[in-house]
Parts: sequence; C-alpha cells; structure tokens
Amino acid sequence: MLILGIESSCDETAASVVRDCREICSSVVSTQIEEHKKYGGVVPEIASRRHCENILGVVRAALGEAEVTLADIDAVAVTYAPGLIGALLVGVNFAKGLTLAAGKPLVPVHHIAGHIATNYLSHPELEPPYLCLVASGGHSHIIEVLSYTKFRVVGRTRDDAAGECFDKCARAMGFPYPGGVHIDRAAQTGDPSRFRLPHPAVSGSEFDFSFSGLKTNVINLIHHAEQKGESLDMNDLAASIQQTISATLTEKTMLAAEALGYKKIALAGGVSANTGVRAVMSEACAKRGFEFFMPEKSLCGDNGAMIACQGSYNFLAGITADESLNAIATLSMEEI
Ligand code: KG4
Ligand code: ZN
Repeated sequence: MLILGIESSCDETAASVVRDCREICSSVVSTQIEEHKKYGGVVPEIASRRHCENILGVVRAALGEAEVTLADIDAVAVTYAPGLIGALLVGVNFAKGLTLAAGKPLVPVHHIAGHIATNYLSHPELEPPYLCLVASGGHSHIIEVLSYTKFRVVGRTRDDAAGECFDKCARAMGFPYPGGVHIDRAAQTGDPSRFRLPHPAVSGSEFDFSFSGLKTNVINLIHHAEQKGESLDMNDLAASIQQTISATLTEKTMLAAEALGYKKIALAGGVSANTGVRAVMSEACAKRGFEFFMPEKSLCGDNGAMIACQGSYNFLAGITADESLNAIATLSMEEI
C-alpha cells in the first residue's frame, strides 16, 4: 500500500510517500521560516501564498524521490485540521484535485494524530494503546492513544502551548523566530539552577498545563534587568527555562500515566526535538520502568511522512472523505 501525504497547516509545505504504513519512500519539506523570521512569527497570509506557490513542486518531488507516479498511489492523505485556515485550504484543495485527476480516495488527517504517528515511523514495534505527550507550537496535550485512529485527550494547556512559551521567552531574550531551538542550544552551556522559575500549577484538572505565568516571569526578569542596567546570563536563563518546561511536561505525563495505568509512553510534536524534554522524559520513564518512545529528531517538526503514516492507518480503518471535505482551524482530536 502506497499513501501520498500532504501537509500545509502552518509554515511548512510538505509531502511524502509512505509504503505499508511505516516505510518512508520519500519526504520533502519546504520551509518558510526565513521569510516569517522577519516578522517575528508566522504571517498567515504569506504562509497561504507560499503554500500555493510551492505545493505542486513539493508533491512532484515527493513522487519523484519515491520513484512512483500518481497511478501507483492507493490514496491521498491530507491535513485538514487544526491549523491556519488559509494554509490548510491550500493543501485540502490541492489533494482534492489530485484525487479527481487520479481517481483515488481522499483521506483526512488530524495534524496532531500525524505528530503522534511519527513514533510508528521511528519505532517499528510500537502499537497502541499507550499514552502520548504532544508538545508543539500550538498544542500541549496528554493523549490516550486507544487505537491507531481513536484518541482521548486527558490533559491540555489552559493558555500557551509549550512551544509557544519557548518561542515567546526566546523572543524576549533576543533570539530569532522560532526560538525554541535557540533556547535548546544556549541551554547546553547554561546552569539550570541559576534562576528559580515558577512551576505552573493549574487548579481543577491535575493533568492540565499552564505556561503563560512562566513566560510572564521570564519577560519581567529581562525587563527588570534592563531597567537596572544589569546583564543576565542568557545561557543560564535558557537552561532554567528548558529545565522548568521539561520538568512540568514530564511531571504531568507521569501523573497521568500512573493514574490511568499506562506503562508505555510516547513523545511527539516540534518540542519533542528539545534535548531537555527528551532527557527528562526518558529518565522519568526509566525510573518507573515504563517503555519510552520518541521520534527521531528529523521527524519532530511538521512533515509529510507523519501525514502519510497516519493517513495509512485511517485508510485501513475506512476513514475517507468525500468531495465536500473542508479545512477546520480548531478541532479537538475527540471529534475526528
Ligand atoms: O510541531 P511543530 O513543528 O509545529 C506545530 O504544529 O506547532 O512545532 C513547532 C514548535 C515551535 O514552537 C518551535 O520553537 C518548537 O516546536 N521547537 C523546539 C525545538 N525545536 C522546535 N522547542 C524547543 N527546543 C527545540 N529543539
Ligand atoms: Zn505540527
């Protein structure tokens, strides 16, 4: 079975061909980061226009690298939610055109389910059920992966996502967008105990996150130092931020795993590339005797292979879309 996956929910235009659910035949990613950097974040209209310009070339390259043609493909999978609406619409409409031209089925994929699926690409032995922490620029979720296509969200962020917190702190520290990776690099030589930052607490739900307090604390710290003419050690601050986010994400995931009886834990989303998050999660799982899975770094950010992989499982489960498929900016995983 060959599935073509198309991703255009944010600032990466990506396409990939995946064979038999887990074998990546090709994966092409065209990133717009350099352009959005000038504005300090993603500009939605620019993102849509670049997707429109790039999508045909990216899909053609993905088919070419896999040495297949549209006729060889069993179905076209596409991200239809959640994300920037104009960006999603480009991918959805393009995928529809392809299915009409090739007479193939159309398979809708939820972006977060795609991130979770990167673990299947990196770990051939992994099968549901398990508990997955998904931390990206737009989402921080603890998710019960009940089967390849059924999910239950048991924890979520009340305000900023973990990646958003990394990016906003990084911006205040003077790093370019997206700043998560710059904090990661600076943290390598920093002292994580140098700054005492608040560990976010959320009343009500024990598995929910809140990162806006941490962000505000970091911004205030920087402003106060500037007003007093003092200089802060940015490596120490980066290490302290990374340590706090890693510990918070891990603590809540371990709490949920223990309460719900999971011994198999996975990590996914852009923030799963973070050195601290990977190390702290891995250590916490080892301490409790839990099996731990994380995607290889090259699959953590948005890509087409994750959509083709999840699209394969959706297709096998009979999940296809008709010609009225629309893009949806906000959609809970439980509604899919
Ligand atoms: O999953 P993703 O590529 O896009 C969304 O679906 O949101 O995640 C992007 C997020 C950004 O906030 C980016 O700064 C963060 O992932 N990120 C990192 C690292 N690499 C990417 N955050 C911390 N450390 C990293 N190494
Ligand atoms: Zn993503």
